[in-house]
Parts: sequence; structure tokens; C-alpha cells
Amino acid sequence: MSQLFEDLEDFGSFDDAVSGDVRDPYPELARLRREEPIQRIDMSAMPGEEGKPVFIVYRYEDAQQMLRDNVTFSSSGVIAAFGPVLGERVMLGMDEPVHGRLRSLVSKAFSQKGLARWQDELVGRVGNELIDRFQADGKADLVKQFTFDYPSRIIAGLLGLPEQDYPQFQRWSISLLSWILNPERGLAAAAALCEYFAPILEARRTDPQDDLISLLAEAEIDGEKLTDEEIFSFLRLLLPAGVETTYRSLGNLLFALLSDTAQLDAVRADRSLLPQAIEEGVRWNPPLLTITRTTTCDTELGGVPIPAGCSVLPMLGSTNRQEDRWEDPDEFNLFRAQKANLGWGYGVHVCLGMHLARLEMRTAVNLLLDRLPGLRLDPDGDDPHIRGQVFRSPTSLPVLFDAVGSDA
Ligand code: HEM
Repeated sequence: MSQLFEDLEDFGSFDDAVSGDVRDPYPELARLRREEPIQRIDMSAMPGEEGKPVFIVYRYEDAQQMLRDNVTFSSSGVIAAFGPVLGERVMLGMDEPVHGRLRSLVSKAFSQKGLARWQDELVGRVGNELIDRFQADGKADLVKQFTFDYPSRIIAGLLGLPEQDYPQFQRWSISLLSWILNPERGLAAAAALCEYFAPILEARRTDPQDDLISLLAEAEIDGEKLTDEEIFSFLRLLLPAGVETTYRSLGNLLFALLSDTAQLDAVRADRSLLPQAIEEGVRWNPPLLTITRTTTCDTELGGVPIPAGCSVLPMLGSTNRQEDRWEDPDEFNLFRAQKANLGWGYGVHVCLGMHLARLEMRTAVNLLLDRLPGLRLDPDGDDPHIRGQVFRSPTSLPVLFDAVGSDA
């Protein structure tokens, strides 16, 4: 069993607690999208406190409009919610112009061009190493043995961490990811990660290497560099933003393909279909159903007045299944005409890591299909399914394949 799971007694119950054991939230989302496209939820006021209403936005156009208007709909709520674990200078929770400055300092490393060189030497190597461990078995659980470890090893590699530190890094990752469940452990991991990164950053400042930490240490715009605090925040952000989303999306994509042999066979035969399968997977079941914004002034959206200081949540999972935008929106259909979806977010905070995520998912599916002939869901597997109403992904993916020697 992978190192990560030793830290959690039961991965399923972890997922339930964080995300809710909801198999199919989509009928309810469709009803709300029809009947109450901007839903106002009045919070019961705490004694002595005014409870502000929360708004949930279900339609594509309304969500797009609010994400475009990042002055009225601020990202500051992220710092209010996650500041303790991610730091006060985390890009995801900053507004312009500070956000733009931070983002431009790191964006080069995440461009398609900046990432190309990692394809074989890191992403492919990590994928191959994980498959080596079970290729001869003829069966595996792709969540426990592949998708969960894969992105965190890649982030560790991008950062240039020494290989012997990976298990510890992964334990801190899981504690950080599950901090809502266990705040004490999450905060301890956040502090431990900063302590761990500090001497590495110090060393890279004097002796830069070919890795992301060196790049962050060196990045400069108009003579201005990232502060240590900004770097630590960014590095910690990579765990929830880059590990959790990717392992879940990859699980969702694999589940979709494995559940539909015609589409799986099509991809197996023609790998140039993979990019559209990846986008369709993110549309069909984004790993994160919703994100959050806070109004900076009284405003109105879709005819609904929204007071200043309210949380407004664009429900990405609903916008991605809007009937008048996608035909049969509940179907995973990699052959459908491609249209932009909001699974990667939209506007100035649109996912910085999307090129990396696409590269990781493309490489993973290619390797799994190449190295595990006859890959299919195990008919005796324990009812694998996608679940969750905050995050979504399968908890297990039991598969069978024709076992071949591990040096194949
Ligand atoms: C399929 C995988 C992924 C999905 C679906 C995804 C989705 C998202 C979404 C929805 C946002 C916007 C959040 C908001 O506006 O509040 C976002 C932002 C972000 N993502 Fe991703 N993400 C994925 C993978 C990654 C990876 C692999 C990385 C990096 C290693 C990454 C790094 C980031 C960062 C740094 C931000 C914040 C950008 C900013 O504030 O300007 N993501 N992502």
C-alpha cells in the first residue's frame, strides 16, 4: 500500500468527511440551475453577529460574468479561509494588482514551453516507476497505487526535493490537504513545510539549481523579487492546487474511459484523442465543484441584488452541465464539439497549472494503456464510482490487465 494511505486509516471515510458521500449531485444542481439560478441562502445570525447571506451561482453566463469582474468579486475570502495553512500572501487569495505581479513572476515556469522539458525526465519517469510496482500483478487499484502518488511525486520533482524526502513530503501533503478534518495536524504540517523549505530556499539563493525553487528565488520583475513568505505560500499552494485537483481529475478521466469500452478503445487506438478526452473529463466531472469570491460592494448578478461582503460561489459543476450549452450534458462524450468550460476556473485566477495537469494526465493515460494491455475495470471490484459534493473523484479504481514482466 502506498505511503500516503498509511497515514489515513480509511481513505473512503476521509473522502466522505471532506466531501460528503454524494454519488450524483447533478440532478439537484440541474433543478437549482432551472429554478433558482442565483440562490440566496440566509445564514442564521449568531448571537451578537449579523449573518450575511451566501449566494450560489448555477448558470454558466452568470458565473463567467462574476469571475471576469474581479474588482466586485474579490478572491480575498480564500485568505480568510485558508490563510492559516497556506499563508497570508497566497496568490489564489490576492486581488489585482498584487495578484498579477505574483502570477507573472511564476507563470513562465508553468507555460507549455517552460514545462516541455519535464515531460520525459520527470513526468514520464514518475509514471513509469509507479507502474513498475504493479505491472506484473495483473491487477491494481489505480487510485491507491497510481493516481494518488503521481502528482505529488511530480511536484516534489519539480521543486527539486531530494528523493529520500518524498515520503515525508507526502505525509505533510496529506495532512495539509485534510486540514479541514484535522486543523491541528494541518497547521503543524504547514509549519513543518515552511521549516523544511527554508534551508532549501537559502541554498538555492546562493547556488541555483535547475528546479522550480531556484526559479522562484531568482524571478525578478522591475528589480523586485518574491519574498520568502510569498515563496513559502506558493509552494504550499501547490499541494491543494496541484496535487489534489490532478489526482482527482485523473481518477475521473480513467473512470469515464474504463466505464465506456468504446471510448476507451477509441483512445487506445488513436492517442491524438487524448487532449479532447482530458477537457471533456474536466467538464463532465471537475475535481472541485465550486470556488469562492467575496463582494467588495453592493452589486447585482442575474437580476439578484447582492450586498457587499457576501460570499458568492460559482458552482462550476453546474455551469459545466448546462443543457443549452452542451447536448446530453450528463454524458461523458469525448467526441462532442469542444467548448470552453469553467472546470479550470476563469478570469485572472484561471488555473496556472493547467498545462502541467494536461501533460500529467496525457502522460499517465498513455503509459497505462501502453504498459497494461487489456486494461479494464475489475468486474468483481467493489462498485467503483465518482463521489463527493465539494471535491469529486473515485475512491478506488480496481482494474485487471494482462500481466507482463516488469521490464517490459
Ligand atoms: C485537472 C487539474 C486541475 C484543475 C481542474 C484545476 C482547477 C483550478 C481552478 C478552478 C482554479 C481557479 C481557482 C479560483 O479562481 O479561485 C485553479 C487555480 C490554480 N491552479 Fe489549478 N487545477 C488543476 C491542476 C493544477 C496544477 C497541476 C497546478 C500546479 C502545479 C495548479 C495550480 C494552480 C494555481 C497556482 C492556481 C491559482 C492561480 C491564481 O490564483 O492566479 N492547478 N485551478
